[in-house]
Amino acid sequence: MKKVKLKVVEALQDDAYKGIARIDSEIMRELGVRRGDVISIKGERETVAIVDRAYPADVGEGIIRIDGIIRRNAKTGIGEYVEVSKADVKEAKKVMIAPAQQGVVVQADPEIFKRGLLGRAVVKGDIVVLGGARRRRDIMEESFQDIFDIFGDAISGFMPTLSQMRFVVVQLTPNQPCIITENTDIVVSPKAVEISEEKVPEVTYEDIGGLDEEIKKIREMVELPLKHPEIFSRLGIEPPKGVLLYGPPGTGKTLLAKAVANESEANFIALNGPEIMSKYYGESEKRISYSLMK
Ligand SMILES: Nc1ncnc2c1ncn2[C@@H]1O[C@H](COP(=O)(O)OP(=O)(O)OP(=O)(O)O)[C@@H](O)[C@H]1O
Ligand SMILES: [Mg+2]
Repeated sequence: MKKVKLKVVEALQDDAYKGIARIDSEIMRELGVRRGDVISIKGERETVAIVDRAYPADVGEGIIRIDGIIRRNAKTGIGEYVEVSKADVKEAKKVMIAPAQQGVVVQADPEIFKRGLLGRAVVKGDIVVLGGARRRRDIMEESFQDIFDIFGDAISGFMPTLSQMRFVVVQLTPNQPCIITENTDIVVSPKAVEISEEKVPEVTYEDIGGLDEEIKKIREMVELPLKHPEIFSRLGIEPPKGVLLYGPPGTGKTLLAKAVANESEANFIALNGPEIMSKYYGESEKRISYSLMK
């Protein structure tokens, strides 16, 4: 089976959370996949995604555009390399999903979950977000169309909270890369599962609108030193120890901090000024150390 190594780049917002990967049509030909087929993406872990053609500006760059969820599922990050090949997929007979967040209990019509998962390619252990079915159908028109009947992005419309939740595929029959269709039996475990190995990203770079320059800078200053400290020690450069983000309220400073923490697999601790400040000597410091312990 033909394999290629491609460099991971973030997805554009339009594609985010829909289970879509974009690669060069030249490479698609090389791999023997058409638009709408399923590819395997292997970083430290292996996952699957629906493939679509690269944007014209990306042609010849040797890159794959995948969102923060697929990056997590393939256990990779922006700038790293993944192995891509054509995936052998079966129609999923049964899929059991469970909320990926502790303490969350969901109760909703299984049909809603099916609407949100139709056309999605999964392997057991993947994180999935509901929605994007219409988009996947449009991409798959050339290949899989016959397995889908009715479609709709019902999720994003009336269930905004549900569409933001992350679910884990805890059971998959058959246990191999599968595609979720109208015939798939979807079971939703009402209780959350414990995810022991790694965290589920709550905020990824795709959640940030604009701020391209800021994201780039933050990645260089925070993500790179955290993920590849050896580069800095080899060059004898001290990476920055702190970064100050400033700007008008509500412009995404905290959001950006959360995203970079997720993508670097670092902890995020929020300290809100008003909760910390105190007029008594020593009280503010006490509260800060308390917050850090939490
Ligand atoms: N660039 C952006 N893209 C997407 N969402 C954004 C963006 N900026 C702000 N938001 C949304 O607006 C809300 C406020 O953003 P955030 O908390 O990051 O602002 P902030 O810059 O930290 O503000 P403050 O200075 O008050 O702390 C959040 O719900 C966030 O998701
Ligand atoms: Mg803030």
